[in-house]
Amino acid sequence: MSKLTQNLSTDATEPQGRQANTMWSSRMAFILAASGSAVGLGNIWKFPYITGENGGGAFVLVYLLCISIVGIPIMIAEVMMGRAGGKSPINSLRDLAQRNGLSTRWVGVAWLGVIASFLILSFYSVIGGWAISYVGHAASGSFAGADADAIGAMFGGLLGDAGTLMIWHSIFMVTVIMIVARGLKSGMEKAINLLMPLLFFLLLVMVGYAASTSAFDQGFSFLFSVDFSKLTTAGVLTALGHAFFTLSLGMAVMIAYGSYLPKNVSIAKTAVTVSIVDTLVALLAGLAIFPLVFANGLEPGAGPGLIFQTLPLAFGKMSGGVLFGTLFFALLVVAAFTSAISLLEPVVEWLEEKKGINRFVATLIAGGTVWLLGIATVLSLNEWANFHPLAFIPAFEGKTVFDILDYVTSNLMMPLAGLLTAVLVGWFMKREMVRQELAMDSEGAFNGLMFVLKFLTPAAVMVVFIYNLI
Ligand code: PHE
Repeated sequence: MSKLTQNLSTDATEPQGRQANTMWSSRMAFILAASGSAVGLGNIWKFPYITGENGGGAFVLVYLLCISIVGIPIMIAEVMMGRAGGKSPINSLRDLAQRNGLSTRWVGVAWLGVIASFLILSFYSVIGGWAISYVGHAASGSFAGADADAIGAMFGGLLGDAGTLMIWHSIFMVTVIMIVARGLKSGMEKAINLLMPLLFFLLLVMVGYAASTSAFDQGFSFLFSVDFSKLTTAGVLTALGHAFFTLSLGMAVMIAYGSYLPKNVSIAKTAVTVSIVDTLVALLAGLAIFPLVFANGLEPGAGPGLIFQTLPLAFGKMSGGVLFGTLFFALLVVAAFTSAISLLEPVVEWLEEKKGINRFVATLIAGGTVWLLGIATVLSLNEWANFHPLAFIPAFEGKTVFDILDYVTSNLMMPLAGLLTAVLVGWFMKREMVRQELAMDSEGAFNGLMFVLKFLTPAAVMVVFIYNLI
């Protein structure tokens, strides 16, 4: 039996302190769960529109580079910290700091991530709600024959209506709570095992359709022909920031998921697999979307409205638009769910451990609080659209509560947590402990990874971080 099939078929060997029913049942289960976390709105909503805004191929190339030199090393570091600690992110970091003779202040890295994931989920759920409501729009044929104004009004109407947004946000959160409350194996693994294959299926159907349109070549070359004259410094920084978001890094999520990873699984190979899956989904989403945009003479650089305003125009014009539009937004909903599940997990795991309450209650408390917080995002889109609570700080001028949450988590907390993670593993943890936990086949590869974590990753993140501050 090859090593891979062996890993796929053997059951978890548990580290100390963990019950068998609180471990992923196989390497494959972890890969699906971590890919589920990574593949989300970032891949299907954000990646296509930032690629569109930044001119295509050259941006994609830089993004791939960022995934390789920043994303993959940090993912390896996070999963490693989680598995070595074997507890919730906060307690894993406390444990690791003690075992390495370091200050317990390093726990701050986990706190940063746990708080960020909590805050992110509060608005992620609202956007997930838009996607659910668009499944309804697409299925009821309301895109058919609509012009840009009508579609714009549909989107504006949704955002302007706090009551409707609340309903979708609540449906989204209740579903996430129900899945997470049932526990790792009977809730999360089961849902993910169903949702991920569905996601790949829907995505392939969409790419298949795009391939049948006249503009597939044009979409393909938009994504893959590299023209550096279209690339700006801001584009490079966007690519790096997005590498974090899309791989779910800097939010304690991979530490939490790593804590459930069986000891016999190779962390490096697994992290590389997850990153490849995530990247493939983003590229396939681009291949599904841009041909439709070009075939209908629409603008690739339309910004955040690309899939909610531009794409519905294409669905409204094409034959089979009701079916493909519905499938597309269903795909978005599925992707959002598997990410949202992972965003709730770090807090739930901590509450279970710290407060000794059972998982069901912990999930209710955490999920309920996130739901409440989400109301601020819902209102930011309408009633509070002109409420700029931190306007006295220049960076927050004109920003609503939602804008502030998004900015602070994605541009400050995530890169800072990522930077500290690389520094902790690269410079402060005992090299021998890292080596043992990673158990890489080749010493050369291990040394290479440590070099990247020590120098390249911190340098790259620092550049983005400083740029974001100014
Ligand atoms: N990676 C997810 C996406 O691309 C978002 C996410 C970020 C999920 C951080 C979990 C943690 O949409």
